[in-house]
Amino acid sequence: MFTNVSEEALFPTFVWVHDLEPARAEALNARMFRDIDRMTAPRPQLQPGQNWQTEQTLHEHPQFAELVEIIEAAVRGVISRMALEHEAFELTALWANINPPGAPHPPHFHPNNFLSGVYYLQVTEGQDSITFHEPRTQVDIVAPHVQRFSQYTAPHYSMPVKPGRLVIFPAWLTHSVKRNESQRLRISISFNAMFADYVEKLSRPRWQGIPLRAISEDESA
Ligand SMILES: [Fe+2]
Repeated sequence: MFTNVSEEALFPTFVWVHDLEPARAEALNARMFRDIDRMTAPRPQLQPGQNWQTEQTLHEHPQFAELVEIIEAAVRGVISRMALEHEAFELTALWANINPPGAPHPPHFHPNNFLSGVYYLQVTEGQDSITFHEPRTQVDIVAPHVQRFSQYTAPHYSMPVKPGRLVIFPAWLTHSVKRNESQRLRISISFNAMFADYVEKLSRPRWQGIPLRAISEDESA
């Protein structure tokens, strides 16, 4: 009946996964674990189920220069694959997330940035995912039952993570972390990246208007 049937994925949402060489990840993670521990002591007492995060300025500390270099290389790769005209970007924040046993990280997104991401230091089997949520809010207006959820029909998708994995996603994409059911801390480092020349270049109109000429005070009266 048909000469061809194809399924085209229009307007897809990309998440970019980068896995660091295991030996490098192991050494880097052990060092950053110690540095975070030292830099945050003494920590406040938490209520059960509460998370804690560091300040968002880890990228300004020399101890995190290696991770910054890794993240910047990955972001450059993403921007290159997207073939964007504006390549200059800055890391605007870098911070550690610590989920103690029993703590979830509720759905959220990262406003006022272009890309965000998470690098993983320590995750336990069974607690090793980040959940991305369906960004098309209108898709539930008609929500038929499905026999088996797929990436096309699921309202959210839990992507596997492991130590040494860097996951990059659009900053607007809502994400969350399930409750930590293990007895170990779940530790990750998140970042935001934004175009360095956003106001100066990117936000300017891209069309030409009628040229203006200077007028004197007499003419404008
Ligand atoms: Fe986040």
